[in-house]
Amino acid sequence: MTTTTETHGVDPTPSPLALLLLGREADPNSERGVECPGDLPAASDPDLVARARAAKEKLGDRVFILGHHYQRDEVIEFADVTGDSFKLARDAAARPEAEYIVFCGVHFMAESADILTSERQQVVLPDLAAGCSMADMATAEQVAECWDVLTDAGVADVTVPVSYMNSSADIKAFTGKHGGTICTSSNAKRALEWAFEQGQKVLFLPDQHLGRNTAVLEMGFSLEDCVLYNPHKPNGGLTAEQLRDAKMILWRGHCSVHGRFNLDSVNEVRERIPGVNVLVHPECRHEVVTAADQVGSTEYIIKALDAAEPGSKWAIGTELNLVRRLAKAHPDKEVVFLDRTVCFCSTMNRIDLPHLVWALESLAEGRVPNVITVDAETEKYAKAALDRMLALP
Ligand code: 13P
Ligand code: SF4
Repeated sequence: MTTTTETHGVDPTPSPLALLLLGREADPNSERGVECPGDLPAASDPDLVARARAAKEKLGDRVFILGHHYQRDEVIEFADVTGDSFKLARDAAARPEAEYIVFCGVHFMAESADILTSERQQVVLPDLAAGCSMADMATAEQVAECWDVLTDAGVADVTVPVSYMNSSADIKAFTGKHGGTICTSSNAKRALEWAFEQGQKVLFLPDQHLGRNTAVLEMGFSLEDCVLYNPHKPNGGLTAEQLRDAKMILWRGHCSVHGRFNLDSVNEVRERIPGVNVLVHPECRHEVVTAADQVGSTEYIIKALDAAEPGSKWAIGTELNLVRRLAKAHPDKEVVFLDRTVCFCSTMNRIDLPHLVWALESLAEGRVPNVITVDAETEKYAKAALDRMLALP
């Protein structure tokens, strides 16, 4: 997560510290590494746009470029389609003729694309360090241990795992193996309804906020029906009785970008811009979502702005690249970032034009860099969970 201070909410200049956090420097401790084999073009190269265009043209239909809504403008410019993680995975699967899927997003999205595309296709992530801090908050070992805790408390048999798309392939496979489903921020309610038809409790991974907000605000559960499983505490910090009483067992994970909005952000913007509509992503904290006027996924936010009246005022609580583009696309409306302090998703921002040029030129020269591959066993169970989501009514 990167922060700088700005005045109106939409157009900051990154500081040197921000550039380091944005991934333009090496991070040898990262589990995925940030070094690109071969020469990464300099960010100052004036020919980057022309180089990207030439490499893309040379590859033609052999390459399909996907861009998540939180990507930088310089990358979105080259995307064949843009969308949220669910839409992009589906779009990739609908392009069997493309040999290479270049995924401008983060690691878990590229994994999902690999699971949903054919054997013949290869998924390329332009920078392997583009992970997701939320997905990293639930490891396979921690989740297996949690299931043991639920088993010991006598509740595993009646618990259905529901995992957010923003999770590793390992977690999706765990979910599939235990009869659960994947969900996204746009279908979390339908996924929970389905899960409560299969069992009496849900283990919701890894975003506590999406789980709590959906259960309490859309399904009629109370905050007392939810308990928080902390993987860093023995037995998740919960007693067997608490697990037996709970309806929703929420994993203690969160998004570092959406988690930074708080009640003060909402109160401050309402004071600063009278009549403003506050629209936030469901990864925001419960207090923020409760105080907002509307809540919805990135796709929902885009559609809400498209449908909004000219002259209306909007404070948006989601990632800054998307909010900046919305502000630009709607000059007839006032669109500001919910918080006065600017915040990009630092791992999304790792994919920049130099990395995209490097990936496309490598492919055009016959080298396939940064291939994301999910092993066959993991893929089988993860796909079962993803297919359950795709079959939701
Ligand atoms: P959606 O694009 O599915 O709304 O998810 C938001 C997000 O945080 C992606 O990383
Ligand atoms: Fe992960 Fe949040 Fe970034 Fe999305 S915005 S990739 S959930 S850290």
